[in-house]
Amino acid sequence: MKKVIVFGGASAIAVEVEKLFALEEAELCLLDLKLSRLETVKKDIIARSKTRIELLEFNALDFEAHQQTFEKAVELLGGVDIVLIAYGTLPNQSEMEQDNLKAIREFNVNGLSVISLSTVVSNYFEKVGKGTLAVISSVAGDRGRKSNYLYGSAKGATSLFLQGLRNRLSSTGVNIITIKPGMVATPMTANMPKSFLFSKAEAVGRGIYNAINNGKDIAYVPGFWRCVMLVIKLIPEFIFKKMNL
Ligand SMILES: NC(=O)c1ccc[n+]([C@@H]2O[C@H](COP(=O)([O-])OP(=O)(O)OC[C@H]3O[C@@H](n4cnc5c(N)ncnc54)[C@H](OP(=O)(O)O)[C@@H]3O)[C@@H](O)[C@H]2O)c1
Repeated sequence: MKKVIVFGGASAIAVEVEKLFALEEAELCLLDLKLSRLETVKKDIIARSKTRIELLEFNALDFEAHQQTFEKAVELLGGVDIVLIAYGTLPNQSEMEQDNLKAIREFNVNGLSVISLSTVVSNYFEKVGKGTLAVISSVAGDRGRKSNYLYGSAKGATSLFLQGLRNRLSSTGVNIITIKPGMVATPMTANMPKSFLFSKAEAVGRGIYNAINNGKDIAYVPGFWRCVMLVIKLIPEFIFKKMNL
């Protein structure tokens, strides 16, 4: 029986992944900012499938507590096979341009805290010789754009960090998976006008579940985003900087 820990276990995308793991009766430990939201998620999952679900409160900005919180989650499950890091925030870019302290806070949530947790988790997996760490980054981290470069730079830093970590651990039994979703209709994007490029959380959750089970290195979800980002990355900078993206 798989043991799965999810940081950001109440995120709309993560919940879809959790439902799929619960169907195979994996044991789950879910962590998020608010225990009350996790309890709602737990009720929803338990109503569909019989599995054990543990809950823990967790604030990504409490860097000092990362090691201890992870150890607590492992202890509750009696081990761990898969860790998914799924929390995040989508800050207002114009606000970030005017307030350096808010910008640093958001960068800490979406970038540095993920790097800190990935360090803790991967060291554990390296010691036991196996395990899968999957982290939700974003296509926004593939190229800086004026509409969201604070968020994008934190996701870009995360993706690059994971690439190095994967390189370091390639000869061990540890898988490091970078998940790059495109735009997804969730509470995070509730205020954004929707277009045909938006996916449903359910489909993205299924893509993440498959990427974890197939041990992919980098998964664009849905897959067409790989082509979209390839084209975007090929645009020469002198043209790209004048584009309204
Ligand atoms: N939605 C998209 O279009 C999209 C696209 C690409 C990548 N992603 C990434 O996918 C992941 C999941 O996003 P989502 O769309 O499912 O978002 P969501 O439903 O808004 O969930 C985000 C979760 O992160 C939690 N969180 C925020 N700050 C936290 C902190 N300091 N410590 C611990 N937890 C914290 C939130 O808790 P509260 O609600 O209580 O604040 C919430 O449960 C994120 O990493 C996001 O960046 C999303």
